[in-house]
Amino acid sequence: MDVIEAIQKRRAINFFDSAKEVPDETIQKLLELGSLAPSSFNLQPWEVIVVKDPDRKKALRRCASGQPKVEEASAVLIFIADPGAVEKNLDKILDKNVELGYMKPEGRQGTTEMVHKLYGPKESVKRKIFAAKNTAFFAMIVMIAAQGLGLETHPMDGFDEEAIKKEFGISEDKIIPCIVALGYMREGINLLPRFRFPVKEIAKFL
Ligand SMILES: Cc1cc2nc3c(=O)[nH]c(=O)nc-3n(C[C@H](O)[C@H](O)[C@H](O)COP(=O)(O)O)c2cc1C
Repeated sequence: MDVIEAIQKRRAINFFDSAKEVPDETIQKLLELGSLAPSSFNLQPWEVIVVKDPDRKKALRRCASGQPKVEEASAVLIFIADPGAVEKNLDKILDKNVELGYMKPEGRQGTTEMVHKLYGPKESVKRKIFAAKNTAFFAMIVMIAAQGLGLETHPMDGFDEEAIKKEFGISEDKIIPCIVALGYMREGINLLPRFRFPVKEIAKFL
């Protein structure tokens, strides 16, 4: 399936076949593809928890307004955005940038200052937006790639973020931009048509 077809075919699926499992290797592949998402300064401020165990899915469903798809999908991915990725990853990224020829060692200082100026201190709103924005790109690529591999997904933000953090040991400073159900659709399901505002209502060509 080409990328255009995958984008056109992707739907938020409510009807997963709970008997069909997505192999770990496939999920691994999807996450590798997702991690090719662009990110600011290549800081990659994302982490993922793959929830497959039936009891853990049940617990996650309790945190997600009881949505049945959380338990019925083969796996649910908890996407986690880390505002602390600047402190955690910047030096490693700069090392790689120098090693791969993207910058000279003397460029490190200027880039470090620019990153801190752009994204502010660790607890700032700017940092939270930075982390959530980049992690959402990651999640979107995973969904398109899943479609390309014949799988279905459903993104959700109908959940209690604090409850998920507590249940899955995610630290308070992190953000969960979305969770995504992943699996195969049940046989015989007819999806309702989708609706979007026309481009002329949402875009301006200048
Ligand atoms: C960030 C995000 C959060 C969403 N949260 C939920 C949710 O909690 N429950 C749900 O049933 N659908 C949720 N949706 C799915 C949307 O309702 C769905 O994508 C939209 O209606 C368009 O349908 P389509 O994806 O099939 O084109 C969410 C979608 C996104 C992108």
